[in-house]
Amino acid sequence: MKIFRTRAELREFVASEKKAGRSIGLVPTMGFLHAGHFALIDMACTLADTVIVSVFVNPTQFGPNEDLDKYPRSFEADCRNSEAHGAVAVFAPTPETMYDRDFSVWVSEEKLSKVLCGKTRPIHFRGVCTVVAKLFHLAQPDVACFGQKDAQQALIIQKMVRDLDFPVRIVVVPIVREHDGLALSSRNKYLSAGERAAAPVIHRVLTAIAEALRQHGMAASSTLLEAGKLELEKAGGVIDYLEMRDADTLDMADSSARKILLAAAVKFGTTRLIDNEIVVPASQTESSQTNKR
Ligand code: PAJ
Repeated sequence: MKIFRTRAELREFVASEKKAGRSIGLVPTMGFLHAGHFALIDMACTLADTVIVSVFVNPTQFGPNEDLDKYPRSFEADCRNSEAHGAVAVFAPTPETMYDRDFSVWVSEEKLSKVLCGKTRPIHFRGVCTVVAKLFHLAQPDVACFGQKDAQQALIIQKMVRDLDFPVRIVVVPIVREHDGLALSSRNKYLSAGERAAAPVIHRVLTAIAEALRQHGMAASSTLLEAGKLELEKAGGVIDYLEMRDADTLDMADSSARKILLAAAVKFGTTRLIDNEIVVPASQTESSQTNKR
C-alpha cells in the first residue's frame, strides 16, 4: 500500500499511472473506515484500474461547535482495510499540507446547500465542495464514488461537477446498514448503549413513511411526517429535520413530485445521525384507484 502525505507525491503518482494508461478511481473519506466506505472502494475497483482512497478529516467542513477535535481516527486499520478491498494508495495529508496558510478561494454551491443539513451547518457544504474540488484536481480521477448515505452531499458534488465541468464520473453507492437498519456511520461510535438501541427508529420511521407513499401517494404526506416525528421523539430523538424533498432539486416535495428524497437528521444525546430513503410515490390517480378497489 502506498501512502502519500503531500500533494506533490500524489500528483507524481497520478501522472505516472496516467502515463501507463491506467484509469483512476477516487474514494474521498474522512477515515475511521467501515463497511459503508468499503462498499465505495469495492465499487471504485470495478470501475477503475488504480483506486486511491483519501483519508482526511477536513477542518473546513466543520462548524465551530462541531466534533472536529474528537472525530474518530484509525489510520493503520484504514490503510490495511483499503488495501484488502483493492485500493493501491491512500492519500492522507495534514490540514497544513492541504491548505496553504493564506488559503482564500472557496467552491460554494448556492442552492442545494441551503436546505436540510445546510440550514444547521451553514459552512459545511462549502468546505466539502472545496476539499473535493482540490482532491479532484490532485487525483484527476476518471471516476469518484460517494455514498447515498449523504444524499445531499452526493447531489451537491454531482452539481459541482456539472456546473464547473470537472471531467469525472460520479457514482453513488447505496447505503450500507447494520442488521437492525441503522445506517453505518463513523459517528455511531459516539452513541451510548441506550442511544444505540434507540437509533434504528430512524430507519423504521423512514421505511414506514416510504411504504405509505409508495402505496397511497402524497395525499397524506403531512400526516405521515407528523406521525413519524412523534415516533422519533418517543424514542428519545431530537429532530433536526424530517422532510420530503424533490430528489433532484431538493425543492419542497408537493403532489407533483415524481421522485422524493425522504431525509432525516436526528440527535441522540450529542450525536447527530442522518439517513434517507428515495421514494417514487404512487401517482394520485393510481392511489385513488387502489383506494376504490
Ligand atoms: P465520510 O463521512 O468519511 O464518508 C465518506 C464517504 O462514505 C461518503 O461518500 C459517504 O456518503 C460514504 N458513506 C458513509 N457511510 C456510508 C454508508 N453507511 N453507506 C454507504 N456509504 C457511506 O463524507 C465525507 O466523509 C466527507 O464529507 C468527504 C466527502 C470525504 C469530504 O471531506
